[in-house]
Amino acid sequence: MTAAVSGFSRLTKAQKIEWIANAYFQDPSEAIKVLAQYKNSDGVLQQLHDEFTENTISNYYLPFGVAPNFVINNERYTIPMAIEESSVVAAASKAAKFWDSRGGFTTEVLNTVKVGQVHFSYTGAVTKLERFFEFVQPKLMESVASLTKNMEKRGGGISSISLRDKTTEIPNYYQLHCTFETVDAMGANFINSCLEAFATTLRLEALSYTDFTPEEQMLEIIMSILSNYVPECLVRATVSCPVDKLPETEELTAIQYADKFVRAVKIAEVEPYRAVTHNKGIMNGIDAVVLATGNDFRAIEAGVHAYAARDGQYRSLTHAAIENGIFTFYIEVPLALGTVGGLTSLHPLVKLALELLQKPNARELMEITAVAGLAQNFAAINSLITTGIQEGHMKMHLMNILNQFGATNMEKEQLVDYFKIHTVTHNAVVTQLEELRG
Ligand code: MEV
Repeated sequence: MTAAVSGFSRLTKAQKIEWIANAYFQDPSEAIKVLAQYKNSDGVLQQLHDEFTENTISNYYLPFGVAPNFVINNERYTIPMAIEESSVVAAASKAAKFWDSRGGFTTEVLNTVKVGQVHFSYTGAVTKLERFFEFVQPKLMESVASLTKNMEKRGGGISSISLRDKTTEIPNYYQLHCTFETVDAMGANFINSCLEAFATTLRLEALSYTDFTPEEQMLEIIMSILSNYVPECLVRATVSCPVDKLPETEELTAIQYADKFVRAVKIAEVEPYRAVTHNKGIMNGIDAVVLATGNDFRAIEAGVHAYAARDGQYRSLTHAAIENGIFTFYIEVPLALGTVGGLTSLHPLVKLALELLQKPNARELMEITAVAGLAQNFAAINSLITTGIQEGHMKMHLMNILNQFGATNMEKEQLVDYFKIHTVTHNAVVTQLEELRG
């Protein structure tokens, strides 16, 4: 086992790299070289990245791609996507183009409620706690006045505080369940600061509340934290067109295509094994936009999957139907996104991504992101019910295989040409490359 290192965070970056290289790598100088390759030559930019987090020893790049031709509520967008998976950006672009000539995407933000909770223990009569809550509520609001002032100016703030009795689940367990409107900010810092202030006030006021017994006064705060489960921060994106405007293939008429598409979505509504993969494809689009715009993709992922399982079974986030000859396909998804605060004004590429999107507010970003998810799902189901997913995937994967074997530009050109009419498999690519190299 490698010896423990002490004071690591106080070492300089060069010292950290040296320690890692020597402790873990057979060829330390090669490891140092790789880490250095990703260093930005612009010292100011590098320092900015170094300071986003701790113990930074290099940068980890993801491709920053764009998917053009998205018509959303009659506006045309080019959507930035940070993602490493081949074919995601191509699939989004293809879906955008397809729906461009069929009315584009329409969207609607259904609500924007954010949630946070103070979890606490209280031993005593619930009616007394309820009376205390009535008494303390104005004091809770007073305790956050300085925090909410600016948010209220922007149209946000605290929407509600309620006392929840959770004692049937855990003895003596109660919550302050609070809802917030954070306008264009994702709001994590605002919410957590308010909750911690609530917790302090709650505890101190309990201590001097004369109707409580000494035991009841010792109300114990367990924790105060926002929830990434935001089932009331919902956005809907929809596409729809007459069934006869849907694709026809050699095997399927437009009507058969529509019917097969709807059945594919229904399967994801009822079958969790399929629903997880179906939603994963949706998240290919959503995460890519969330990352490109500097939002927290872990928060989004956690909230989206909890929402997909809200009735106790994990289900599809999208739904499709045919009614009176019209095919409709839509997504409903919780997306607590921000366009101010966090990385949005700090990270140069995030700033650029937001400008590319014409500086959306948080509601507009929710709409654009939901569209990216719907488009991705449309493209995936389109492939799955027609050619299968591998054809497109392997074509895009071809470049990865060629790069893996160090193909030259000339070799790449010839093999891309060859595989336009041949099936791409790992073996076939290697064989062709070897043949080309004699
Ligand atoms: C691959 O990243 C995503 C898909 O598997 C999604 C799906 O199956 O719907 C293609």
